[in-house]
Amino acid sequence: MKTLVVFYSLEGNTKLVANMIAEELGAEILELKPKKEIPKGKFLKFVWGGKSVIFGEKPELLNQIPNMEAYDTVFIGTPIWAGTFAPPINTFISSNIIADKKVAFFACNAGGGSKKCFGKLKTLFINNIIIGSIDFVDPAKQNKERVKEEVKAWIKKIS
Ligand SMILES: Cc1cc2nc3c(=O)[nH]c(=O)nc-3n(C[C@H](O)[C@H](O)[C@H](O)COP(=O)(O)O)c2cc1C
Repeated sequence: MKTLVVFYSLEGNTKLVANMIAEELGAEILELKPKKEIPKGKFLKFVWGGKSVIFGEKPELLNQIPNMEAYDTVFIGTPIWAGTFAPPINTFISSNIIADKKVAFFACNAGGGSKKCFGKLKTLFINNIIIGSIDFVDPAKQNKERVKEEVKAWIKKIS
């Protein structure tokens, strides 16, 4: 049985952590890519991203979602947008039946919102065993080695 690390990242923070987790576990990795990416402009991204969260959007993805039966453990990673997970995660969750798996969450934020996000995600994965969750504050701006050590320690704790 295998582990899948699935994530969305607009600006590379969640991607950094996802790569570290996948490398540590020798896991497969799936980066969710929306067909229409939101603009990365300083203010526009908040307007577009915020609207997308508020309206509960499920943006179409470029990815083929793999058969989840093949995995026994799934890590789900997201940036915090307006206090919750980013809309591509919505699309992933609603296009799969994920049950009887070990599930872990990781999130990146600029200061807060992860706790609420993890609480919401837990309610969407009630038929699974939640093995852990962790969050980082803009890790791409932090010392990468320290982030890696934190990831390693977390993996060890939940494994
Ligand atoms: C649309 C949008 C909404 C955001 N909302 C929040 C928020 O509610 N709380 C927070 O701490 N950071 C918020 N952020 C900041 C990101 O969560 C943070 O910078 C994160 O590290 C970005 O991850 P990424 O590089 O993987 O996209 C928001 C960013 C965007 C683009």
